[in-house]
Amino acid sequence: MTSSPIPTYRWPDLGQISDAVIADYHEAGVVVFEDFASDEACDQLRARARRLMEGFDPAESLSVFSTASESHQGDRYFLESGDKIRFFFESGAFDDDGRLVSDAEAGLNKIGHALHDLDPVFEAFSYRPELGRMAHDLGLADPAIVQSMYILKPPRIGGEVHWHQDSTYIYTEPDSCTGFWFALEDATTENGCMHFLPGHHKGSLRERNVRTQQFATHTERLDATPFPEHLGVAVPARKGTLVVFHGRAPHASAPNRSDHSRHAYTLHVIDQTSTYPDTNWLQRSADMPLRSLLVPNP
Ligand code: FE2
Repeated sequence: MTSSPIPTYRWPDLGQISDAVIADYHEAGVVVFEDFASDEACDQLRARARRLMEGFDPAESLSVFSTASESHQGDRYFLESGDKIRFFFESGAFDDDGRLVSDAEAGLNKIGHALHDLDPVFEAFSYRPELGRMAHDLGLADPAIVQSMYILKPPRIGGEVHWHQDSTYIYTEPDSCTGFWFALEDATTENGCMHFLPGHHKGSLRERNVRTQQFATHTERLDATPFPEHLGVAVPARKGTLVVFHGRAPHASAPNRSDHSRHAYTLHVIDQTSTYPDTNWLQRSADMPLRSLLVPNP
């Protein structure tokens, strides 16, 4: 482990996480595992994402994803994507007349939100038994992946993500949302690596996003206490690194003004023993129920 305020371990040394790692997670709300995924595994996901993008017609979506605005909210294309594979652009991908100024890969913000259940390559990566075991060890009795995203953070136009908590969007009672973030390329302070406020997952959930109509959502303020953003810690992550974080862990990332992309894959896991409200934006059709991430003992 390093002396960084973010507990950091090397995955191959672990195999299975120890009580010390579990204690660090509960204290900091975030733990970093270097060398979790091999270069080959990262490259396989990147190649698969490229294939998916080649098969995507940008006319299908002029949706812009940005947490800096609420522009995607009420957008049917977004709100129906919980059990689909859909493509979302950066706001900087368009000119003043709303025309796409680049090819899809250079302009896309992300692909989501059911890659883990609909694409065999992403499925094989997402349902690795060590992830289910880790989620269980971190306190989720019956973990299931509710959301997957391939995040591109493209060069020069990759947008800023403001301080937020993922439980705002993936809300359960009791709280169980847990993020698994995989660096598929080096994430640096230049290309917009993540920042965390270690320990602040113990604070309140500040906002909750609720679906108010079939294709409209609204973000309710629950607690106006600001995040102490000046205490934010940058978490550069080498390719293959896994960052695991609590659903109430405040995090953010700077815009990517560099010439390098910052591809990452994320999973959000919930405990199926908790209640998942039908007012959460992300809903799946009845014929695509959640699947347990736990591998049964032989
Ligand atoms: Fe987030």
